[in-house]
Amino acid sequence: MTKLFKKLPTHIAIIMDGNGRWATKRGMPRNYGHKEGVNAIERTIEACLKYNIKYCTFFAFSTENWKRSKEEIDGIFQLLREYISINDNIFLEKEVKLKHIGVIEPFPDDLKSALVNIENKTEKFDKLTITFALNYGGRDEIIRGVNTLLQSGQKQIDENQFSSILDTKDLPDPDFIIRTSGEQRVSNFMLYQMAYSEFYFPKICWPSFNEKHFIKSLQVFEKRKRRYGGV
Ligand code: FPP
Repeated sequence: MTKLFKKLPTHIAIIMDGNGRWATKRGMPRNYGHKEGVNAIERTIEACLKYNIKYCTFFAFSTENWKRSKEEIDGIFQLLREYISINDNIFLEKEVKLKHIGVIEPFPDDLKSALVNIENKTEKFDKLTITFALNYGGRDEIIRGVNTLLQSGQKQIDENQFSSILDTKDLPDPDFIIRTSGEQRVSNFMLYQMAYSEFYFPKICWPSFNEKHFIKSLQVFEKRKRRYGGV
């Protein structure tokens, strides 16, 4: 493919916001918004493959999302379950690596095994790494990391060592964080990793996010001048 963009983010992280509002506006239950949100995830993964993005992370379930109704939480688990079952072979065919960050311990057993199974099967691929943040919170991740360090008896560490005890130890920091729906908040996502991330807040709700919005996002990133504190 001809070079479409002067520069691309290596790692895009997405806060998929607006599913509930999108559904309510259409007179539908909130879980319908999440279901359409899964289609937007699929479109985005296709776009990552097409435009050669190496890492894409989706904030699918936060440590705070347990406050939602049981019906909504079970609905999200069911979507994840179906997604893994449908995509089991597709990930292998497309050579896409799937992983998660966050603590899946409290998730239903069958879902945990399905996740671990697909992660093991796709571990060797490096064309595109898709990460689902599941029961993930940036503060929780940092505190878990600090406790790991305390238990190991370390007295002093550097930034590299700290990065290596985070859930994201095998991922580069996100260059570009997209939050849909027009809300401009970080909501406990990748707090340590976002030190030098560029942010973009398109107004579109997540279920409507498509290739056109993806290209627009890449164009926004292309224009950003990253200085990392320099001049
Ligand atoms: C945010 O919108 C969305 C979520 C908290 C859940 C996102 C989950 C999925 C798209 C399904 C997960 C499945 C897979 C395959 C990863 P919101 O509900 O907070 O929207 P609102 O602000 O309009 O209420």
